[in-house]
Amino acid sequence: MELWSSPSPFAPAVPAAGALCRSDPASRPGLVSKSPLAESRGCVPGLTSMIPPRNIVISGATSGLGLALATGYAAPGVRLGLIGRDSARLQAARQRCEAGGATVVPGQIDVCDAGTLATWLTGFDDGGAVDLVIAAAGISAGPPRGQALEPGDFATRQIRTNLLGCMHTIEPLLPRLLARGRGHVAVVSSVAGLRGLPYSPGYSASKAGVRAYGEALRALLRPRGITVSVVVPGFFDSPMTDRFHGDKPFMVSLERASGIVRRGLDRGQARIVFPRLLAIGLQAADLLPAWLGDRILRAVPFHIVPPEPA
Ligand SMILES: NC(=O)c1ccc[n+]([C@@H]2O[C@H](COP(=O)([O-])OP(=O)(O)OC[C@H]3O[C@@H](n4cnc5c(N)ncnc54)[C@H](OP(=O)(O)O)[C@@H]3O)[C@@H](O)[C@H]2O)c1
Repeated sequence: MELWSSPSPFAPAVPAAGALCRSDPASRPGLVSKSPLAESRGCVPGLTSMIPPRNIVISGATSGLGLALATGYAAPGVRLGLIGRDSARLQAARQRCEAGGATVVPGQIDVCDAGTLATWLTGFDDGGAVDLVIAAAGISAGPPRGQALEPGDFATRQIRTNLLGCMHTIEPLLPRLLARGRGHVAVVSSVAGLRGLPYSPGYSASKAGVRAYGEALRALLRPRGITVSVVVPGFFDSPMTDRFHGDKPFMVSLERASGIVRRGLDRGQARIVFPRLLAIGLQAADLLPAWLGDRILRAVPFHIVPPEPA
């Protein structure tokens, strides 16, 4: 079966709704809301909710958070572009989202393959203007227990997949979002991007990069009408977490994590950080003298088993 190259894979389900904010004074003068609570949660001032997106791209849609978000968005009138490498998981994701009533365009693509991904993304956008793109694809690894080296080329592979893959998922769409003056971009970082962790140097670096990229884009693109949400999760239950051995403080269920992310996206939240206590703890560790922060982090028994090669 061809997963993304059928004769007209990008046909629109409905006209693009766009990711305009309901409270955008220019578009919906009656719905302006500048709730201090919304702003304290990291919402862009003046924006409290987004028009439901109709053309949505999700990378990492075959498992975990990406899959949970995809099935949550699946509804009649919604067109989903789902990206992942594994054909069986992609097919299963497609079936689940179609059962929810969505039109699905599967993209069996490695996010490291910038050229193929760009062609697919622009093709999907031709079939209906993308109003939400979520870059959730990611891998994680770290040195085996008691060792100091990440296996093989895993450190750089995480940079390629998590950071460059995230950029490859967003960059081809940016000229189109800018030309339309609307759209919503979400990047999935991690609390590991708040302070380098000794259990996962490559992962920490990749997620710090994703976070910085998203924060920079948000400040840059907001005046051009584009909303950027930076998702910074702590531990949640997923196939990735099954490979995390050791303490996983404040871990939440996948359902809870995807619910938090979804609500944040629906509000156009600038930052979606959870659980707050873990994020604050890691930011505090970053503010401590380096030797003390290092010592505390080293004392936590934790290591990541690398994933099987794709
Ligand atoms: N789980 C946690 O506790 C946690 C905490 C903080 C942040 N995060 C981040 O949240 C995101 C989702 O994590 P998860 O726990 O849901 O992980 P997961 O269940 O392992 O899912 C990862 C997804 O990424 C896709 N993927 C991986 N490499 C890819 C590549 N090269 N090209 C295309 N797709 C690729 C996988 O699809 P295929 O295998 O089909 O390619 C899969 O759909 C990741 O970015 C992760 O780093 C997770």
